[in-house]
Amino acid sequence: MKAPTITQIENAFLPAKEITDVERFAGRESAINDVYYALVAEGSNIAVVGNRGIGKTSLARQIIGIGSGDNAILDKVGIKYDHPLDFLTVYFACGSQITSIEELLERLLTSSNCLAEWIYDIPNAKKIMTDYSPKFSAKLFDTGFELGASKKTENTDQSVISNHKIDVVFTNIVDAIVKRRIAKNGILIVIDEFDQISDPSGFASFLKAIATNSPEVKFCIVGVAKDIQVLMKEHDSTDRLFAGSIIPLDSMGDPELESIINNAEQYINSSIIFQNDARRKMIDLAQGHPYMIHLIGKFALRSAFQEGRSKISGSDIDNTLSSIAERRADPVLEGKYRKAVASSQQRETVLKAMASAKDEQGEIWTTNAYKIALDKGVENASHYVGQLVIEEYGAELDKIRERYYRFKDSLFHAYVVARPNMYDETV
Ligand SMILES: Nc1ncnc2c1ncn2[C@@H]1O[C@H](COP(=O)(O)OP(=O)(O)OP(=O)(O)O)[C@@H](O)[C@H]1O
Ligand SMILES: [Mg+2]
Repeated sequence: MKAPTITQIENAFLPAKEITDVERFAGRESAINDVYYALVAEGSNIAVVGNRGIGKTSLARQIIGIGSGDNAILDKVGIKYDHPLDFLTVYFACGSQITSIEELLERLLTSSNCLAEWIYDIPNAKKIMTDYSPKFSAKLFDTGFELGASKKTENTDQSVISNHKIDVVFTNIVDAIVKRRIAKNGILIVIDEFDQISDPSGFASFLKAIATNSPEVKFCIVGVAKDIQVLMKEHDSTDRLFAGSIIPLDSMGDPELESIINNAEQYINSSIIFQNDARRKMIDLAQGHPYMIHLIGKFALRSAFQEGRSKISGSDIDNTLSSIAERRADPVLEGKYRKAVASSQQRETVLKAMASAKDEQGEIWTTNAYKIALDKGVENASHYVGQLVIEEYGAELDKIRERYYRFKDSLFHAYVVARPNMYDETV
């Protein structure tokens, strides 16, 4: 068997990156099915909601693929389809720099990998843009384009700005692009990390207007949220805009998680394999989060390779977990853990007790958790729970009602369960 290269080993699991390759995209059959139907449904926008690290961006990449006519994932999942779709696709991740819908629309128009290139190429769109504002033209210039429109005086431009709002300009420009029939099905705009926009107000009414004025523009918004109302921070009028095409991404099932391990093994031609006890451990620890499989898998594989082992066992996984914590392989999760525990061995015991007492609904009944903590020598567990809900210790726990708590972030919950103790337990 041909030995794998270090590059192969390091990229068999991808904790730091979404999945783009169809072959390496595991599971999610029903989400892919819903995506396809939402893409062919006229006038319906799409929303992908779910917890941090659950696989939203990976799904968004597949949405872009299907939208631009690549049906490989549909074949893989076994979904019947009509002719390949033909959207002009745009992907944009908000990050923290976008604070409002106006800024979002502006960035979509002026970023070269979004709409700027098309605007440059289409005279009508270009005219709308230059008439609107020299500020925008300058932005396009930044991206390497120059709009050869006639110069205007400050005064004229100001009056144009006050006459047209950015949402109207956006609608007119995408309408001009759609009319050029560059792509048969229109424009598909995927906006990832929508939850990062601090003030998304006005997006619902913007979507309504664009649905009427330019129906061939489809938006797919993606973000950390439990439902569409939370994502858009609007309580009315969002349902119809996303009728039937809200895709909640839940935890992955065990077979889906296992196929991530299988895919990784295939990637290195099975030169190193995960034994059954290692697989079982990884799947249990992941609690439905594909990210955890990638994180643990990556470091387990790296040490097996460096030590010349061809098999990874359950105890190798234990060692990997310690090394992940020590090297702060995930600085965010490890940072949260250290903030919650800080200098208290008792608080660590209580944090872990709370994590291990979670029920099927993700709720923690203190009676159960306190018993676990007591068995480990902490008598006043409620005192520490009182600390774990406040900012000073990261406020990772939420009180949902009398005697019931919940971890705010289920990925952090999984990390707390998986991470070896920082302090030795007293009992
Ligand atoms: N279907 C999948 N098959 C295999 N791995 C996946 C799949 N979906 C997600 N992953 C992996 O899980 C991790 C998180 O994925 P992704 O970045 O898509 O999640 P996300 O929900 O967008 O996260 P965030 O909330 O941080 O933006 C990555 O390591 C990615 O490679
Ligand atoms: Mg993401």
